[in-house]
Amino acid sequence: MSKKVNIDWENLGFDYIKTDYRYVSRWKDGKWDEGKLVEDNKLSISEASTALHYGQQCFEGLKAYRTKDGKIQLFRPDQNAKRLNKSCKRLLMPEIPEEKFIDACIQVVKANEHYVPPYGTGATLYIRPFVIGVGDNVGVKPAPEYLFCVFCVPVGPYFKGGLTPVNFTVSDYDRAAPEGTGGVKVGGNYAASLLPHELAVKKGFADCIYLDPSTHTKIEEVGAANFFGITKDDKFVTPKSPSILPSITKYSLMHVAKEYLGMEVEERDVYIDKLDEFKEAGACGTAAVITPIGGIEYKGDLHVFYSETEVGPVTKKLYDTLTGIQFGDVEAPEGWIVEVK
Ligand SMILES: Cc1ncc(COP(=O)(O)O)c(C=O)c1O
Repeated sequence: MSKKVNIDWENLGFDYIKTDYRYVSRWKDGKWDEGKLVEDNKLSISEASTALHYGQQCFEGLKAYRTKDGKIQLFRPDQNAKRLNKSCKRLLMPEIPEEKFIDACIQVVKANEHYVPPYGTGATLYIRPFVIGVGDNVGVKPAPEYLFCVFCVPVGPYFKGGLTPVNFTVSDYDRAAPEGTGGVKVGGNYAASLLPHELAVKKGFADCIYLDPSTHTKIEEVGAANFFGITKDDKFVTPKSPSILPSITKYSLMHVAKEYLGMEVEERDVYIDKLDEFKEAGACGTAAVITPIGGIEYKGDLHVFYSETEVGPVTKKLYDTLTGIQFGDVEAPEGWIVEVK
C-alpha cells in the first residue's frame, strides 16, 4: 500500500467516507466520452436534470477484496455491468459498454488502492457506479445528456454484527409494482423503501420483508437483499419473481450450493405462511453478504428459524465458501474474479 490512511478497519460501518478519486464520463451527442478520474466529489448538474425530477437514474454496487497475499480483486463485475445495462434500457438511458464499466471500476480501485481494507478485517472497498440523466429538460422525457460515475468507499458489515442473526418484519408496503421497476436497480425503488425501513427499525427489526405486490402472499425481498431458505431436507430455495432485483450474490450462492456443497437448488415461490419448510434462512447481497435471519415477524407472530443468536451450519458453510472465493482463499469458478493490477 503506497499511502497510509487513518481508518479503524475492524470497526467500519456502512457509511460514506470521501476517498481520493472518482470516475466521471459524459454521454453527449450520442456517445460516451473517454471518462476520467477526478478529485472533486461534487457534481455540478442542471437544476432541470431528469435524475432530479423523474428518477431517471440507476446504480450498481460491487466490492473490491484484498487477498491474503495482498492482491486486490473484483467479484463478477461483468454481472454488475450487465445489470446496469438492463436498468439503463428500462429507463431509456444509454448503455455502458461492459469493458468501459469494468475499466472504470478498476481505475477507481487502483487510484484509491490504500483504501482497500487489509485481508482478515472482513472489510472491503464498496464500489458504487451510477448513471444519471442530466441537462436542461422540463417535460417528462429522456434527458439530453448523461453522466456515468463511479466512486468507492471502504465498508464493514451492512447489518451490524456480521454473521449474527437479525430479525425482520413483514411490511404492508410494496417496494415495486408487479410489472414495474423492481427487477432493475433504480433509485425510485429505494425511495419507496425508506419509510417501510424506518417503520421496521422503529419496531426493533433490522429491516422489513416485502411480499409480492400482486397477492401479498409470497416473499420477494429482504430490505435491499434477496431471501434464501434451507429446507429440512437441505435444499437451497430462493424466490422467483419479475419484481425481485436479481441478486448477483444470490445467483453465486445457488452455484456454490450446487457445485461446491452438492445441494439441490430451487428458484420458486416462497409463501409467507409456509416458513415451517425452512430450518435456516438468510438475506444475501453485496452489502449484506449473507446475513442469517433469526426470525420473521408476520401478523404479530415471530417465526424463528435456526436460532435468534447463532448462525445455522448450512448458512455458515455457504458464507465461508462464498467469502472464501471473494477473498481468494477458495478456488473461484472460471471468470468470477478480476484482478486489479
Ligand atoms: C433490492 C435489492 N435486492 C437484492 C440486492 C442484492 O443484489 P446483489 O447480490 O447483486 O448485491 C440488492 C443490492 O444490490 C438490492 O438493492
